[in-house]
Amino acid sequence: MESVWMKGSGIRKREPLPGDMEVPVVVIGAGLAGILTAYYLKQEGIRAVVLEADRIGSGQTKNTTAKITSQHNLIYSRLIRTFDCRMAEHYASANEAAIGEYERLVREKGIDCDFVRCPACLYSQTETEILKREAEAAESLGIKASFETDCELPFPVAGVTKFARQARFHPLKFLAGIADEVEVYERTKALKVEGGRVETDRGSVTAGQVVFTAHYPFINVPGYYFARMHQERSYVVALEGAERPEGMYLGIDQGGLSLRGYGGLLLLGGGSHRTGVNPVDKTGMGCGYGMLKNRAQEMYPGCSEVYRWSAQDCMTLDGLPYIGRFSTRRPYWYVATGFGKWGMTSAMVSARILTALITGRDCPEADIFSPDRAFTMQAAKGLAVHGAYTVKGLSKHLLPSGKGSVILNCPHMGCRLEWNPAEESYDCPCHGSRFDREGRLIDGPAQTDCKRREGNENERAEE
Ligand code: FES
Repeated sequence: MESVWMKGSGIRKREPLPGDMEVPVVVIGAGLAGILTAYYLKQEGIRAVVLEADRIGSGQTKNTTAKITSQHNLIYSRLIRTFDCRMAEHYASANEAAIGEYERLVREKGIDCDFVRCPACLYSQTETEILKREAEAAESLGIKASFETDCELPFPVAGVTKFARQARFHPLKFLAGIADEVEVYERTKALKVEGGRVETDRGSVTAGQVVFTAHYPFINVPGYYFARMHQERSYVVALEGAERPEGMYLGIDQGGLSLRGYGGLLLLGGGSHRTGVNPVDKTGMGCGYGMLKNRAQEMYPGCSEVYRWSAQDCMTLDGLPYIGRFSTRRPYWYVATGFGKWGMTSAMVSARILTALITGRDCPEADIFSPDRAFTMQAAKGLAVHGAYTVKGLSKHLLPSGKGSVILNCPHMGCRLEWNPAEESYDCPCHGSRFDREGRLIDGPAQTDCKRREGNENERAEE
């Protein structure tokens, strides 16, 4: 299923790595975060090559709703409560600056990517106090925010928290414009990283600094990112014949929707759930695409679906991205991951922070994003939940399975995969790897395909 962004993006094909090479910086992953990081390093006079297992932008960059916004759900009241005003201010200013930086690049380079400034709104059909508090918190941190009771949605709301001067664009057209200036090797899969040497299936790259921007880091140790992130799936349909709002919307209630316009289409998203845990329909509206289809007909009778796609998002323990040094044991490795639902803005924030760290420039805003930041109460709760899923997934592969059933264990760390009927894939509840019907790898952190085999009544062995 192709997203609306994949048609005519204009991204130029690149050759694979021609053989061994030595460079100052190697970046693994040619999504928005990787390409932007390499671009900014080049502006600083530093050669950075990007390695991509598939094609530029073929990962999660193409599966987004492409909202560029500092409005990341109800984050600001929480940040002020959990950290302090200074840290919350850094989060706000880094993300607001990211919007401005996109605009600057689009203008200066004349990138034709449908960039438009527009408001971003959180809506609720029941809550007003939470939304008011969020607007006040954001405003206190320098964001142009307000609480309003009117909005352009086709159903009644109790209120909205509105951020002015946010933006939307076409992510792959933007990426094409920037990637043209970056040295990228496609169809070059990083297999192993030892010190400053990245081994690929096409040769090796030796570098002074290594940057991991391939969505979910495939290195387990050091860093232990598998223990502090899970993945979530969510669904998007592009509708014809549905009214398009000027602003971008996100519902904060259970089952809340994401809405934004693109050209003549409305992009309607929702149905988020942990990868590997099939959702249960509690409302009678269905799950995933079925739920979106039903909600679309309810709101815009007669509309029709022209595209559908799903996103896979890395969720951290405290809901903030990990951007900075990969681990104290590898000070010359860097990482950008855990963007949650906010990949566009977080990619730009990552590129700016990683460039500052690599060039040795002062970057006060880096503290709140650091993978080594303070461990909060929310992170502790997240760790407990994540740990419980992992223990369950790992212990399940030792259980007897029904005769004739297909058993697939995840090649990452061995959890039992779950069949996802909506997307016809085998999904891992532990860290979110996904495989197609034949066991071929779709999403990491696993690095290899998995083997299918038939189960039998008394089986207790692992793969
Ligand atoms: Fe880690 Fe499956 S993704 S065990």
